Amino acid sequence: ETGTLRDRFEETVARDRRVEPRDWMPEEYRRTLIRQVAQHAHSEIIGMQPEGAWITRAPSLRRKSILLAKVQDEAGHGLYLYAAAETLGADRADLTAKLLAGQQKYSSIFNYPTPSYADVGTIGWLVDGAAICNQVPLCRSSYGPYARAMVRICKEESFHQRQGYELLLTLMAGTDAQRAMVQESVDRFWWPALMMFGPPDDRSPNSARSMAWGVKRHTNDELRQRFVDMTVPQAERLGVTLPDPELRWNAERGHHDFGAVDWAEFAEVVAGRGPCNAERLARRRAAHDEGAWVREAATAYAAGQAAAAAV
Ligand code: ACO
Repeated sequence: ETGTLRDRFEETVARDRRVEPRDWMPEEYRRTLIRQVAQHAHSEIIGMQPEGAWITRAPSLRRKSILLAKVQDEAGHGLYLYAAAETLGADRADLTAKLLAGQQKYSSIFNYPTPSYADVGTIGWLVDGAAICNQVPLCRSSYGPYARAMVRICKEESFHQRQGYELLLTLMAGTDAQRAMVQESVDRFWWPALMMFGPPDDRSPNSARSMAWGVKRHTNDELRQRFVDMTVPQAERLGVTLPDPELRWNAERGHHDFGAVDWAEFAEVVAGRGPCNAERLARRRAAHDEGAWVREAATAYAAGQAAAAAV
């Protein structure tokens, strides 16, 4: 019986159809999806912090409303993704508890500080740009609820990317000090943005299986290369220098060559020892504690509604 169910699952994946919550799926497939979707959800929620810090200091009402909308979108993305993880049988409270206990990961990129207002633009351009590059192919991920959540998330991410690029264009058209602020921010974010795509393919334990299952559509290195190729002309148009002396067009490959990513730094950040890991988790724990009354009130209200409906 399981044989037939497994055959049906394999056929769904092979024919590039979607696996849906009620379909039989191998436990390993379920586990890898819960892992990836939960990490992705946690990244969206923790990702509100680096930019959220600039909401009260945005230089105009227009900039403040754009940033506020953007950070709210990230919260929404987290919620769709937790809901997608729940269709796999995960429990959202349990996923949150694991994040707070440091037992589940979130993206390395959100452990870097945002000391400058230009960082708001750079995060939009490079970080959301990298996120789009990684996530557009996930709209074709084999698991239906994840793929569908990605469609909407990617639309919003492209707005985020454009608002960042537009902010940087504005700063670059300003004073020398503003241009220097953009360059300094790009210098800090370029390498961490390349790390977002994950370890190199030969050191990526999950890639082969996730690719075979259609959970991932491209390898980490393929997407990193695509991001570099996409970003170089944007940097030229902007007038900033990407901080990599080895970055150059390779006509033979039809791609840009680029320098070596510092994978030791990546490992440190993923292990919880990046510049802001402790601060991000402490903030998230405090927000969770401060929100306890909301969860209690919502639970009490739901119980009241259920009791009233039962009368
Ligand atoms: N930051 C933190 N951890 C990472 C990162 C990163 N940038 N890249 C890889 N890792 C972790 C993996 O989660 C995995 O850990 P685990 O086995 O304990 O779960 C380990 O490093 C090895 O990596 P891979 O085998 O390459 O893992 P995987 O196949 O899951 O690929 C990737 C990693 C590319 C991030 C994939 O999970 C993915 O595409 N996720 C969805 C996108 C996402 O989460 N984006 C979040 C940032 S973008 C944003 O929120 C705006």
